[in-house]
Amino acid sequence: MTTILPSGTNRATNKAPVDRQALSTRLLGSAAKKSYDPVVDIDWSAPVPEDLYGLSPEWSTLYGTPLWDRLDHSERVTLTIHEYCSISGIGIWFEHLLMQLVLRDIYGDDPAQPHVQWALTEIADECRHSVMFARTAQTFGAPSYGPPPALLKLGKAYAARADGPAAYAAILVAEEILDIFQRDLMKDERVQPLTRATSQIHVVEEARHMRFAREEVARRTPELSSWQLRKHRTLVAACAAIVAENLVQPQVYAAVGLDPEEARAAARGNEHYNARLRDASAGLVSFLRDVGLIAGQSERLWKRAGLL
Ligand SMILES: [Fe+2]
Ligand SMILES: [Fe+2]
Repeated sequence: MTTILPSGTNRATNKAPVDRQALSTRLLGSAAKKSYDPVVDIDWSAPVPEDLYGLSPEWSTLYGTPLWDRLDHSERVTLTIHEYCSISGIGIWFEHLLMQLVLRDIYGDDPAQPHVQWALTEIADECRHSVMFARTAQTFGAPSYGPPPALLKLGKAYAARADGPAAYAAILVAEEILDIFQRDLMKDERVQPLTRATSQIHVVEEARHMRFAREEVARRTPELSSWQLRKHRTLVAACAAIVAENLVQPQVYAAVGLDPEEARAAARGNEHYNARLRDASAGLVSFLRDVGLIAGQSERLWKRAGLL
């Protein structure tokens, strides 16, 4: 039976829509109380322990495969450090894109409005995160992993054009998947202190970004015409597929002497890793489904990306 909600009710939360300015004011207050400056809040000169993983082994793309079984402990440590640096490097790329999306969204708005000041605060958070992730790779002695050139180009075009729900949903896709992943890392004692510290900072500050993005998506999706809705669904599904596919770049496998293509094929077929990614996306998928951004044809794209 279809439930009729009072007009203006947010389909994702079954609650009346949250006022954008009231929410922004609240988020600004929370940011003033608890924000970090990783350049000074992290001890960058602390030694890197030799025996701790870069990320929880169960989050390694190869965990549970014959290739993983062939690696000794120190190779597993090296692999997981490079995997964490790749995920952070893709995070930097994504942050650079979403900063453009957010800045374009508020361009020309009255800066006295809380939502503009919140957007600028979010962009400032992302600037600090990108520096933090860049330094993490440097400290671990890993290269600056990033997307392949074709994807760099595609991202630039997307950041220049995307708007509305598809822009905020793209932001959410990356933030929510990384959030679940980093919540695991920050409390795992087998993991490097630097991974845990960067994860903790990111989890605290991203919680506010996700809150804002969810409200933007929920408020703006009902405003789309039916053809726009189809377009936004496809764009969001494509973003999700690209994020899931590119978190760990194949060059990381060379760090432990594995053939990148062979290891990438093993990672793609690794049901253990795929299930973890699917679990990490469950909350996001259910939200996007409730709000109407996953439905119809786009379901198939989500399935093909292994996220449904
Ligand atoms: Fe971030
Ligand atoms: Fe963010």
